[in-house]
Amino acid sequence: MSNRTFTMIKPDAVKNGHIGNILQMINAAGFRIIAMKYTRISLEQAGKFYEVHSARPFYGELTEFMSSGPIVAAILEKDNAVADFRTLIGATNPAEAAEGTVRKLYATSIGENAVHGSDSDENAKIEGDFFFNGLERF
Ligand code: CMP
Repeated sequence: MSNRTFTMIKPDAVKNGHIGNILQMINAAGFRIIAMKYTRISLEQAGKFYEVHSARPFYGELTEFMSSGPIVAAILEKDNAVADFRTLIGATNPAEAAEGTVRKLYATSIGENAVHGSDSDENAKIEGDFFFNGLERF
């Protein structure tokens, strides 16, 4: 059972005014906020964050989008955090996301899908370390 995951509220959800609603869903689902920041990443930083997808055809679109505006990055804690957070946000493609999930409610397309959630414990640590140092965790 993992305890921590990493998330970003993506530029589309920020622009569309959904930060508050998404944070409320995260709190209501029992996640504790360990670290959080409102920031914007450069194209180069987005390229590094999503390096694992660099061979994919959507890599350019993804990195341009993720650097197009501010995001909210956070480390979240809960029993079974990685899997439970992925259940809360729903499928990557909002057309396939279950009713009541964050992406069903707030995502507009597979690219502009409102939130990111780590897909493994290993990536949760790598991704959290990308954004936060030890002094920024509580
Ligand atoms: P995320 O969970 O942030 O991790 C990788 C992202 O790539 C994913 O969410 C999607 O936003 C994006 N993605 C996956 N497939 C596609 C696609 N076919 N076209 C555009 N973006 C995609």
